[in-house]
Amino acid sequence: TTIAWDPTELIDWFEAEARPLPWRAAGVTGWGVLVSETMLQQTPVNRVAPIWQEWMARWPRPSDLAAASQAEVLRAWGKLGYPRRALRLHEAAGAIAASHGDVVPSDVDTLLALPGIGAYTARAVAAFAYGLRAPVVDTNVRRVVARAVHGAGDAGPPSTKRDLADVDALLPTDDTGAARLSAALMELGQVVCTVRSPACERCPIAADCAWQHAGRPAYAGPPKKV
Ligand code: ADE
Repeated sequence: TTIAWDPTELIDWFEAEARPLPWRAAGVTGWGVLVSETMLQQTPVNRVAPIWQEWMARWPRPSDLAAASQAEVLRAWGKLGYPRRALRLHEAAGAIAASHGDVVPSDVDTLLALPGIGAYTARAVAAFAYGLRAPVVDTNVRRVVARAVHGAGDAGPPSTKRDLADVDALLPTDDTGAARLSAALMELGQVVCTVRSPACERCPIAADCAWQHAGRPAYAGPPKKV
């Protein structure tokens, strides 16, 4: 089952209900978004927030971080986990300072060419920092799309190409609308359409949700190889 739904309801919900996270404040730079997205990849929002604030105060530009030693960077990363992320970010900061005028690029391919910046982070920066149309795909977005569009209980195994195409098909053609929908899909997956206890009664797209229409079937496991 595939159901087409109107993204404006979801965008309106996001505009009204989005959590006021520090990296969403007005005036946050591309650098601020790159740091937040790197931290948020494997660490929850509430643990990231205080560390992100410290980093922005201490290293407000890529060149500031690039000038710090690896030991300082690792210490400031603290208990966020997966410290390799901090070292890659340190490397990326050096490249941005040296080759991009100390400004995080907005173009997805340019971002992908930087050390440690992958498919998710490049598109998250383009969309959330620069308001561009770029499909942002994380596990939350994959689950929302699996349910709302395909009527499945959860997403199957990740496939970068298919997942990007799936989300791309949902995005409005304009940059602003697309960037907002990307943020809204992620927020919906984190706060409403959760893995274990989806709050469908609070969901702005429940009326159009293919999973609702299918009677909320349990996750059937990954699709069989053909
Ligand atoms: N997880 C990943 N990116 C996020 C963001 N920008 N806001 C909230 N949670 C996130």
